[in-house]
Amino acid sequence: NPDPKTIIVSNRLPVKVVRNDEGMDFQPTEGGLATGLGSIYKSGNNLWIGWPGATLYSKEEEESTLEIMQSQSMYPVFLTDQDLELYYEGFSNETLWPNFHYFNQYSVFDDRTWESYKEVNQKFADAVLTQANEKDTIWIHDYQLLLVPALLRKQKPDLKIGFFLHIPFPSYESFRLLPFRRELLLGMLGADFLGFHTYDDTRHFLSSVNRLAGIGTDHGIINYNNRQIMADALPMGIDYDKYNDVASQPETIEKEVEYRTAIGSPRMMLSIDRLDYSKGIPQRVKAFEKFLEQHPEYQENVSLVMIVVPSRYQVGKYKELKEEIDLLVGRINGRFGRLSWTPVHYFFRSYPLNALSAFYRMAHVGFVSPLRDGMNLVAKEFIASRLEKKGVLILSEMAGASKELSEALLVNPNNQAQMVSAIKEALEMSEEEQISRMTVMQETLKRYNIYHWVDLFMSRLDHVKNQQLAQK
Ligand code: UDP
Ligand code: G6P
Repeated sequence: NPDPKTIIVSNRLPVKVVRNDEGMDFQPTEGGLATGLGSIYKSGNNLWIGWPGATLYSKEEEESTLEIMQSQSMYPVFLTDQDLELYYEGFSNETLWPNFHYFNQYSVFDDRTWESYKEVNQKFADAVLTQANEKDTIWIHDYQLLLVPALLRKQKPDLKIGFFLHIPFPSYESFRLLPFRRELLLGMLGADFLGFHTYDDTRHFLSSVNRLAGIGTDHGIINYNNRQIMADALPMGIDYDKYNDVASQPETIEKEVEYRTAIGSPRMMLSIDRLDYSKGIPQRVKAFEKFLEQHPEYQENVSLVMIVVPSRYQVGKYKELKEEIDLLVGRINGRFGRLSWTPVHYFFRSYPLNALSAFYRMAHVGFVSPLRDGMNLVAKEFIASRLEKKGVLILSEMAGASKELSEALLVNPNNQAQMVSAIKEALEMSEEEQISRMTVMQETLKRYNIYHWVDLFMSRLDHVKNQQLAQK
């Protein structure tokens, strides 16, 4: 028997297929799940199962993708255009995503997308079963695959299965609005251990298990079908050393000089998000506009550099958001801009790591203001890139990261006056105070890094498995 391995299962692989004139190319995937786990999966005996990020149209394309991915410890699950429309854009991103982020007015309920969600979850479970040996650990990730734990458990009752949710688990009051809510919960309960970013997410999950599935829970322990299951909060960290090291590379510093010269403004605030209504992008731009209006002395003195990474563009609400942001940025630049100064430098694209690091280095203020966010790794990456310990983080209370980063300037993103005064406070904070806050946050992130997170997850999972065996 081969050595036991860990199989990571997520909707997306950390590498995506991109089509270009010469055929297919492979690029890194954006988003917190892929960047976070990307660091660890190569280091051990791991296999990552997921969708390769594009529809492949021939057997040859599939075979060459399979070969290249297998050589890098990945195993692709091929999805059709219809799967993407119904399972990915539909149930995952038009039903679950808005509900879990408290945007219920955006949630669409459609039986066809639910059917597809079930089918595609089965496809993922089947792929796992072709790759898994009895002693392997299966680690399933995120809201696109909530049914996979139970589908695997049905086929292989003794398998060791962990699950981690990268987005918020909503309060019972939101979750109960979903059709199929009970099926979703029972799907998750196929896992032995379930991890969430925050204590509140865990509490919300347990409350729904209790009230919607009628299953008793006791301090995070769930007894279901004679099997002991555990749920707990495990905030995800980043590869601290990686971000710290990249920030000191000559290539990064060269880019920083180049960008700084091009932007020209004496001071810079930075925001980086995927295009998503959960990120509070319009609210942030409007707060900056208000700030310039109320504090004209800062005009020509500070710019907002705003990177928006294209995401889920086929989903209607994302397209609408893009249009809203374009208009807002145009309005504020038209209103305040001068030949020598642009208030908002806005880029709708993704960047390679050195470039992101250059932005993290050069900003005086990191401005992270989601309306709702499971964790937000950008906030943590900004902190890890501040080699001189200067700079200020403005952070929304609605991001999971705020629970660990209490030395940031915490704001309610719906409170514009508070956001405006936080911008002022950030720009006027003494260097001494900046350094003292930054030092505390860096210590936290260095200690609770991604490796620590994986170790903790695995030890909890092993613990539950041992408890189960002891009870047999
Ligand atoms: N990111 C990226 N390319 C970019 C901009 C950002 O890979 O051009 C990464 C960023 O470094 C971070 C992730 O995307 O690791 C975003 O994670 P976060 O938790 O902040 O939000 P999510 O996108 O998962 O909602
Ligand atoms: C968030 C989700 C991930 C997802 C990522 C990018 O981080 O938690 O599961 O992969 O966003 O979104 P996308 O729809 O492009 O995969």
